[in-house]
Amino acid sequence: MAKVLVTRRIPEAGLELLRTHFEVILNEADRALTRAELLDGVRDVDGVLCLLNDRIDGEVMAAAARVRGFANHAVGFDNIDLVEATRRKLPVSNTPGVLTDATAEMAWTLLFAVARRIVESDGVMRSGRWGGWGPLQFIGGDVTGKTLGVVGVGRIGQAFALKSRGFDMPVLYADERANETLERDLGARRVALDELLGEADFVSVHVPLAPATRHLIDARALGLMKRTAYLINTSRGPVVDEAALVRALRDGTIAGAGLDVYEDEPRMAEGLAGLVNVVLSPHTASATTTARDNMALKAARNLIAMVEGERAPDCLNPEIYG
Ligand code: GLV
Repeated sequence: MAKVLVTRRIPEAGLELLRTHFEVILNEADRALTRAELLDGVRDVDGVLCLLNDRIDGEVMAAAARVRGFANHAVGFDNIDLVEATRRKLPVSNTPGVLTDATAEMAWTLLFAVARRIVESDGVMRSGRWGGWGPLQFIGGDVTGKTLGVVGVGRIGQAFALKSRGFDMPVLYADERANETLERDLGARRVALDELLGEADFVSVHVPLAPATRHLIDARALGLMKRTAYLINTSRGPVVDEAALVRALRDGTIAGAGLDVYEDEPRMAEGLAGLVNVVLSPHTASATTTARDNMALKAARNLIAMVEGERAPDCLNPEIYG
């Protein structure tokens, strides 16, 4: 029976499916594998189901002599050296589609939480310091009718933008490609990133991490935003220069931020945790029951196909078959 490594416990549905095909070697510890454990773990298996915080590079691939494919349990795949995998004719897959709504919902959750100062207010309520209603307490930002700026309108950015319909927001977007759905359904306008940054009241980032998007939102970009605007990031941490963001939040260059992802997870930039105008979640945008079950199933199906020598449904480097 073929053997596969699952680098950390995933929802049971995925594990059960894998067990009907393979002997499953599961990291039972409630933590990511160390580098040494990962290098050792891939040595004697036929396939690997890995997570977004497992760095799958040439060294891991070289150690994984028997492995017939890597199935990432995430839609983002910046943790995997795809060029190297392709050079080695190793298939790699991700989990597109099943976490689109969950991630878009998290961007909205952070947007409302920071605009309406929910975490700050919650802290006051729990502390027993609230002295009763007052007309100047916890005044925050408006949402309805404000301009939404969406940076990157792939599956998740588009879903996020479409969910603005209830709030009558003019929508601007920046993307390499025009998005007909958003232009038709929302009257959204495609603009250059600088224009979007200068006009939007909320800027939500939905681009994949790539060399061209690393620090896309840097000190200059933050400086273009309105002082009353908010930044939301549910994509990948390094898309935003986190140290520059701390300065912008501290200096009032922008009004606030909602972050689900960080430049150097699980660490945060110095000073970020001490700011009241930022809402922080621990990379949990896809953490809903349905999204996580479906991610596990999708990753398992991809791995089964790869190990059995078939083309994975979500293969990211299909050119290896050409
Ligand atoms: C989560 O960050 C994912 O890429 O699935």
